[in-house]
Amino acid sequence: MTYKIEMNHITKVFGSLVANDDVTLKVKPAEIHALLGENGAGKSTLMSILFGLYQAEDGDIIIDGEKVTILNPNDANDLGIGMVHQHFKLVDTFSVLDNIILGAEDTKYGVISYEEARKKLENLIEKYHLKVELDALIKDITVGQQQRVEILKMLYRDSNILIFDEPTAVLTPQEIHDLMGIMRNFAKEGKTIILITHKLNEIKEVADRCTVLRRGKMIGTVNVNETSVEEMATMMVGRKVSFTVNKPDVKTGEVVFSVENLNLEGKGKKILTDINLSVHRGEIVGIAGIDGNGQTEFVQAITGLIPTHHGKVMLNGEDITKASIRKKYEIGMSHIPEDRQKHGVVLDFNLESNMVIQNYYQKQFQRKSFLKFKQIREYTNNLIEKFDIRSERGAETDLRSMSGGNQQKAILGREISRNHELLIAVQPTRGLDVGAIEFIHKQLIEERSRQKGILLVSLELDEILDLSDRILVMYEGEIVAELDPKKTNYDEIGLYMSGGKRGLKA
Ligand SMILES: Nc1ncnc2c1ncn2[C@@H]1O[C@H](COP(=O)(O)OP(=O)(O)O)[C@@H](O)[C@H]1O
Ligand SMILES: [Mg+2]
Repeated sequence: MTYKIEMNHITKVFGSLVANDDVTLKVKPAEIHALLGENGAGKSTLMSILFGLYQAEDGDIIIDGEKVTILNPNDANDLGIGMVHQHFKLVDTFSVLDNIILGAEDTKYGVISYEEARKKLENLIEKYHLKVELDALIKDITVGQQQRVEILKMLYRDSNILIFDEPTAVLTPQEIHDLMGIMRNFAKEGKTIILITHKLNEIKEVADRCTVLRRGKMIGTVNVNETSVEEMATMMVGRKVSFTVNKPDVKTGEVVFSVENLNLEGKGKKILTDINLSVHRGEIVGIAGIDGNGQTEFVQAITGLIPTHHGKVMLNGEDITKASIRKKYEIGMSHIPEDRQKHGVVLDFNLESNMVIQNYYQKQFQRKSFLKFKQIREYTNNLIEKFDIRSERGAETDLRSMSGGNQQKAILGREISRNHELLIAVQPTRGLDVGAIEFIHKQLIEERSRQKGILLVSLELDEILDLSDRILVMYEGEIVAELDPKKTNYDEIGLYMSGGKRGLKA
């Protein structure tokens, strides 16, 4: 058999960093081949080489048995290679149609033949169920639809090697399901598919084979139906990973945090409508929802990042609706913010300054307006040890030079170690690798055992289902469902998340 694609001994360096280190990838015709690896493993780099965006320092590429040179995306195009990037490359103010034909304009006597383009696209939309309005502007359609535009772009160019770079990160469960179906159809028709992902269940669902990268190196290629999720995870991380979150039974206590009739408007538009919720001691309340349905604003309102005008917020028996951020911290609010670099840390400060940034003025760290440097150092070293925060120079490391996972562990350690009653954790594991996710989940469960209240806001449904004792679904600024994680499932939550179902249960 001739492989459809062979990338042999590819090496690519960026400065002193080896992003791909002697990587070999062989893809069979008409298979769905997953490329698996943690953040920074080198997956996008390898595919950018295949697509002509980067040139490898070493190694060669063979397509259909012939050695090729791919200097730019046009060369890739000519070889039938198309790519849907992690961040879409569409022009916001252009129509769907214009975006698709941009760069591939067929002309007749120097005039673009829109009619033919439209016809071809209508056929493709119909054939592959890629529903999208050709005359809509990109800025007016959903992210899921934008992805379909990217897919149509490849099909319009008659690509038969389709690369998808983390395509499901931005989709709802239903859209993910549809996309998997679309991929299977492509493969059935003889197209070859490379799917980049770090989600193992997706690989199990659609992929035939899987190649694993770790820190720039090729670890191996396996047949998916002969390999367990655990085995693939071990290849990816380099050690055994536990997937089951062990949740001990915990007696829930009194209400520690509550929100009553919170409403919020912005730019003349309703952002939040009548939000009511409460969190008990020893309870994890999860807020599920698709990005952009008011979760961000809700958290900003209760933590004090934006002012609230209506409603009442209570923490630990005190009304904190209008309290300053410092006051909220003092009463017992801890917060792992959504944007860790913007609201979680000061990147230009070192680790120890960041660890006492909210309470440096307290007795523990200050005396007669002089900081107690020794205490701060000891406190930080303790956190480093307890929360496995890895960095080059310990307490003195600049936050900026630390990896995302370690920045997040630092924030988590700081927020958990401060005196608090409530922990608000927003997207606590976004962009982190499996090992760090496992660690953070364990810490949240321990918080629960310590009788803290935890409000978890996440776009990852798995995370919500694994950790929550109660699930609230937010849709268009309202809480549209309250669900028991033991009695609900992926599909039901997905339906609420997409507005397909409404109604409070429980
Ligand atoms: N253009 C670039 N310049 C410098 N470093 C880069 C560039 N692109 C990627 N890298 C680095 O190369 C490594 C691999 O990145 P990438 O291929 O994007 O990983 P993945 O897609 O597996 O998450 C990372 O350490 C990343 O920071
Ligand atoms: Mg990538």
